[in-house]
Amino acid sequence: MKVSIIGGGGLVGSSTGYALQCGGVVSGICLIDANAELAQGQALDLLHGASLVADQRISAGDMSEVATSQIVVITAGLRRKPDESRLDLINRNVDLFTGILDQMKAAGLKENTYVIVVSNPVDVLTYLAVKRLGLAWQRVIGLGTVLDTTRFRSNLAKRLQVPATQVNALILGEHGDSMVPIWSSATINGLPLEQWPGFDAVCAKEVFDATKGAGAQVIKQKGGAGFAVGLSIREVVHAIALDSRRVLPISSLIGGPYGIRDVCLSVPTEIGCGGVRKQIELALTPKERLGLQNSARVLRETIEQVEARLTGGSKATAVVEGKPAQRAIPRNAWAK
Ligand code: 2OP
Repeated sequence: MKVSIIGGGGLVGSSTGYALQCGGVVSGICLIDANAELAQGQALDLLHGASLVADQRISAGDMSEVATSQIVVITAGLRRKPDESRLDLINRNVDLFTGILDQMKAAGLKENTYVIVVSNPVDVLTYLAVKRLGLAWQRVIGLGTVLDTTRFRSNLAKRLQVPATQVNALILGEHGDSMVPIWSSATINGLPLEQWPGFDAVCAKEVFDATKGAGAQVIKQKGGAGFAVGLSIREVVHAIALDSRRVLPISSLIGGPYGIRDVCLSVPTEIGCGGVRKQIELALTPKERLGLQNSARVLRETIEQVEARLTGGSKATAVVEGKPAQRAIPRNAWAK
């Protein structure tokens, strides 16, 4: 299975290439980047390690590689400034992203290709990809809160001094400020987190705050995420490549579960051959369910602003019962 990474020269894209190389599952890794020289350099560096890892075809190329790829990962995009929200970023990333989608179609994107969207704000851009690529919606997958979930688990493990791989806890909703911690089903080695020694309201707040602020913190200290986001993307790629049917909190088009429709956000989703196989409706607490629906409102508000900007029209669709969302980004944000 060949995976092409658009933005493969950058930190996220090259870290993804390295994670896939170390995983040894996919047969081909191709780095595509506007900075062709950088993509070639990253591919050369990966190639040098090949004899120690796996027999894979590693290369750099242009958008034409899309036509022969089974999975295309889109990591290209401008990165947030430390004090900028992911939704604020959209004003700068939409034109770049829609241009990439158009280039993918022009390059001969096949209808059985899977597309994994990583660029931010990932939920809104995943929605645009679903609407514009002409693929089955199940094959267009946003990384969503997979990265937040791994951060959440790792932060909990560090705080409670337990093995990180034994922590099972989800972040759902928006990969952004309205993300929702799901405490009600969290466990450590199968035992309820809420009964774990040392876990209390203070611990919960500190761990969730650290998780929500992790992206900005990493940007501030090293310019942006690389290792953890590469491993998170590998989880999704491998679930598809191996048809493992793993349940991951990826972002996809929601059409009814949790009382939400016509928006992309993260719910527990079975991933395998065909992409999205099942969106699982957990029994959430009322607070968790409301949090998820708030994510949907925030994202829907931004989608409508983006669509209005792209089409020059205006479109308002209530997608979640109840009151309108709080404004995601100020309307004057579209000012050039
Ligand atoms: C992050 O949270 C890149 O949005 C990603 O670091």
